[in-house]
Amino acid sequence: MLLLHLSDLHLSRYGERGDWSQPDDEEGWELVHQWQRWRIEGRRDRKGRPDKLRLLDPEGVVHQGRGWPGRKDEKIISRLLALAMERHMTSAEALVTNRPTPEDLHALLRLDPTNTNLRFLQVVDQLLPLGPELIAVTGDTTDNGFGYGLLEHYLRPWIERQRLFVVPGNHDTYEMMPRRGRRARIQAKEEQYRDFTHRIGNAPNAAGAYVRRIGDIAVVGLNSCNALIGPLSAAGEVAREQLVWLHELGRDPAFQQERLRLCLVHHHLLRMPFELGRRAPIEVGMRLRNAREVMQTCSEAGIDIMLNGHRHHGYMVQLPGHPMVVSSPSSTLGCKSSDRRYVWLLDLADRHPYPVMHVFSDDPALNDDDNGDPGTTPPPAASGDDPAA
Ligand SMILES: [Fe+2]
Ligand SMILES: [Fe+2]
Repeated sequence: MLLLHLSDLHLSRYGERGDWSQPDDEEGWELVHQWQRWRIEGRRDRKGRPDKLRLLDPEGVVHQGRGWPGRKDEKIISRLLALAMERHMTSAEALVTNRPTPEDLHALLRLDPTNTNLRFLQVVDQLLPLGPELIAVTGDTTDNGFGYGLLEHYLRPWIERQRLFVVPGNHDTYEMMPRRGRRARIQAKEEQYRDFTHRIGNAPNAAGAYVRRIGDIAVVGLNSCNALIGPLSAAGEVAREQLVWLHELGRDPAFQQERLRLCLVHHHLLRMPFELGRRAPIEVGMRLRNAREVMQTCSEAGIDIMLNGHRHHGYMVQLPGHPMVVSSPSSTLGCKSSDRRYVWLLDLADRHPYPVMHVFSDDPALNDDDNGDPGTTPPPAASGDDPAA
């Protein structure tokens, strides 16, 4: 029984990452060019000379700002237009109705290599044919609360069989910038996430967590998104009610008798002391404030494996007397500890499941045998599991 551990997909309206809020400086912008409902606007300095250009999508969100040279600005305007057209094609809605072929996807990714919506389709193309029985997504499904529909469309067979498990991430529910309307935006994001969990059958209990049983395996989902402190913090905390609930669950004989108990949480349990990565991991504003308590409660409840995301650093750690911790990199943006883009696969039929790395192939022509993954099995029912069907 194969478990595919995904995390930090950062899906968005157009596959773009960034601040999706309306800009604050609304004064003095004039329309320079329009395509569909995308706008290129310009602003002049005090002396009336061209100063800045920006590209806005139909929702009024700025995608890119540029200097405005005034004369000979056609090149910059056509670049902004090309970006608008490409973003238009890679909106979550467009990718639901028009699924690119692997070859088209490859070509689109050459134009926009970090487009998370497109990279999610790579996940769909390259990983779903492996036939995972269960799929876990440990948070940051979206970059800013948009794009759930893309996941729901392509993972529908798993949703219908109650085989998709998701927990919230800070990007799904936080609004980190301290700007006007922040409270309303937080509320809207929380509602969007709540609706999403209801649609996919992952609604939490009154404590804010859930447990689901698949055969002799229990899957627990904890919500670590609890933005208690001020701006620019992505830190989290698992609320006391959830830990009390988990403690009680651990005393339930039926739970104790499960062959395997998994627990999903977004924020990382273990801080990284190792600095082999391309970037030294920073902890400020990132941590799980009550990580020690969460780990202790999970250990006492008999959790075997903890799955987390958040840091975009992949690792697996087995500390004696504690659950094994499997930290997923971003399944779309990659791993900060290495140049590889990969996911973890766990065969839950094993007595002691061990995560196997499955590295993405950037070339759609390469088959699975070429990407160095010896541990994955061929698809048991590729046609039946085709999420596009
Ligand atoms: Fe993330
Ligand atoms: Fe995160």
